[in-house]
Amino acid sequence: MTRVSVFGLGYVGSVSGACLAKMGHHVIGVDANPSKVDLINQGLPPVIETGLSELLAGVTKSGAFAATESWQEAIAATDVALVCVGTPSSPNGSLSTDLVKRVSEQIGAALAARNEYFVVAIRSTVLPGTVEGIVVPVLEARSGKKAGSDFGVCMVPEFLREGTSVKDFYHPPKTVIGQLDCRAGESVAGLFAGIEAPMVRTSIRVAESLKYADNAFHAVKVTFANEIGNICKAAGCDSHEVMKIFCMDTKLNLSPYYLKPGFAFGGSCLPKDLRALTYHAHGMDIQTPLLDSILASNKKQIERVITLLQGYKGRSLGFLGLSFKHGTDDLRESPILEVIETMIGKGFHLGIYDEFVSIARLVGANKEYIQKEIPHVSSLMRASAEELVADSDVLVVSNSSDKFREVLTQMTRKDQVVVDLVRIIEASEVKSQYYGICW
Ligand SMILES: NC(=O)c1ccc[n+]([C@@H]2O[C@H](COP(=O)([O-])OP(=O)(O)OC[C@H]3O[C@@H](n4cnc5c(N)ncnc54)[C@H](O)[C@@H]3O)[C@@H](O)[C@H]2O)c1
Repeated sequence: MTRVSVFGLGYVGSVSGACLAKMGHHVIGVDANPSKVDLINQGLPPVIETGLSELLAGVTKSGAFAATESWQEAIAATDVALVCVGTPSSPNGSLSTDLVKRVSEQIGAALAARNEYFVVAIRSTVLPGTVEGIVVPVLEARSGKKAGSDFGVCMVPEFLREGTSVKDFYHPPKTVIGQLDCRAGESVAGLFAGIEAPMVRTSIRVAESLKYADNAFHAVKVTFANEIGNICKAAGCDSHEVMKIFCMDTKLNLSPYYLKPGFAFGGSCLPKDLRALTYHAHGMDIQTPLLDSILASNKKQIERVITLLQGYKGRSLGFLGLSFKHGTDDLRESPILEVIETMIGKGFHLGIYDEFVSIARLVGANKEYIQKEIPHVSSLMRASAEELVADSDVLVVSNSSDKFREVLTQMTRKDQVVVDLVRIIEASEVKSQYYGICW
């Protein structure tokens, strides 16, 4: 049993408080709004959520859950604070952290009067850097104590959905605990111990970022399905049947595949088919802003690499990988080819190695493509990865061949730079300076 105070008794706080109390914890809810405090103490829900009335009536009657306006009283009587105050949008779209800051000031002031270790767990959705940049400094300043030793701090994002929040509390997709110190993580893990869900312990910034990745993805999913639906309707087919079959594919569609941050996509299908689909949609007067934005975003990822490489003027560039992905010689719409051609145009000295794209081995259409369309590129091909590494100051890895991994971990020098577009290695595995494109 943990003694826990819940700051903010809105959707998240009232449901979390009631559910934690039902799990056997002793919960004190705190809200700045006296009418919410009164409602809870009468056993009445301050928000409408399926199952909350019955739950609250039970846990308030038993004394496991009570509410107060006094944050001093709540901190004095508990060992963990779960912060669930709102983080609304400011008029300019930025996130308002005013309430989180205010609660941090209150908890910090109350901690000054406590001698025992205490854990502050942020449940509110906050942008990466907020806990370490705002919450921790405010808590330390107000309490005169040190985070990580005198008190612990965690970021524990909430994944419940309104309407089914009580059910979601007990059956979340995962429990994620971002911890400043291990002791704080242990304490919060104990709080959620009865919940059957994979538990992940990580850093505070990963936990903060994850919640935004989740919500952005959910929003993308809804909009994607709607845009596909609009196109299907105009084309006279049943979008639900399309998406039902789409969702049956757990190898490429609903899977971790294509979800690793890295370089731009390319090849003979994705760019071509996206262009065709959006052109077709526009021709039927169907607007597809999400699908329209994809190629533009992909281009930005290519430009990001070009901008980065421009910083290495006067140094030779070595490209490991030329085709759009490992294991193929297909050069059509290969994004790294666009980077290479731009760098040639900017006067860089460069070389290329790709085990699947050597002129000697190429046959048919690709041989013709390389000889006719990009002869200037073919003359820059090196015979081996070893030769390329020896001759280059900056190595750019664009596909994840095992051979490249071996070469980079064994043959790079301290004076070289590795620009990794696919996370083929970790920074600690190479002697050279390491730059990951989006990590
Ligand atoms: N609503 C959801 O479905 C959901 C799901 C996941 C995460 N979240 C996140 O959780 C957080 C809370 O969301 P919500 O929908 O429960 O918000 P809400 O606005 O319903 O409730 C917030 C409560 O905090 C109280 N409060 C404000 N300042 C306070 C203070 N100093 N001390 C005590 N109480 C104070 C308010 O009076 C209010 O009752 C937000 O960051 C939100 O983004 C919400």
